[in-house]
Amino acid sequence: MIIAANLKTNLTRKETKQYIQELDTYVKNNAISQEVLVFPAMSSLDENDSSVIVGAQNAYPTKDGAFTGEIGTVHLDEFGINTILIGHSERRHILGETQELLIKKFNYYKDLGFKIVYCIGEPLSKREAGESEMMEYISTQYEGIDTNYENLIVAYEPLWAIGTGITPTLEDIESIHKELKKKSPAPLLYGGSVKVTNAKDVLAIDNVDGILVGSAALYAEHFCSMIGFAEELS
Ligand code: PGA
Repeated sequence: MIIAANLKTNLTRKETKQYIQELDTYVKNNAISQEVLVFPAMSSLDENDSSVIVGAQNAYPTKDGAFTGEIGTVHLDEFGINTILIGHSERRHILGETQELLIKKFNYYKDLGFKIVYCIGEPLSKREAGESEMMEYISTQYEGIDTNYENLIVAYEPLWAIGTGITPTLEDIESIHKELKKKSPAPLLYGGSVKVTNAKDVLAIDNVDGILVGSAALYAEHFCSMIGFAEELS
């Protein structure tokens, strides 16, 4: 399974280093065979020789150049990073990234062979509008994306579940993951208010190949417990 932590705008470089060390110790001491990914804040990227894969939460589709506030592959290469998160709802909705830009990023990083965690998910209004409207909305987020890309991981994260403490029911997750699996053979993660208290149940659902965790992953101990659940279930 794939257990991923999105640290968002949290943890300094020093804190991130300690965090990754804690995960690394847990993974090694417990002979964990799951894939553990961590997406630190941009300025917390650093050298990494741990058992954990470190990825970027964002990068511009460029090597370098004049893109104020963005980073390019020279900055990722410095730390041997070849994993990236694309399409997270906070970048789509708070930073205003369009599907067009996401396609550009996707293709750029795909051509470089990056492991891409591509996020999709509907707002509450689409969920409430019923199954077909919701699926239609989600389908637009697959537009222009090579769903057969070998290094693709898809993360389904309903917007209304992110950071809210509210999650879909286990039955709802099961039914939407079943539908989404028809769209892409890539591993499919669930994200949105995954916590120590529900992670095991979520991981046990059919067609859930892992989890993408935000707030609850900020505590290394909690995140390690989730890694442990995945190991038990595998
Ligand atoms: P959350 O965030 O676990 O805090 O809901 C998940 C995410 O945004 O990836």
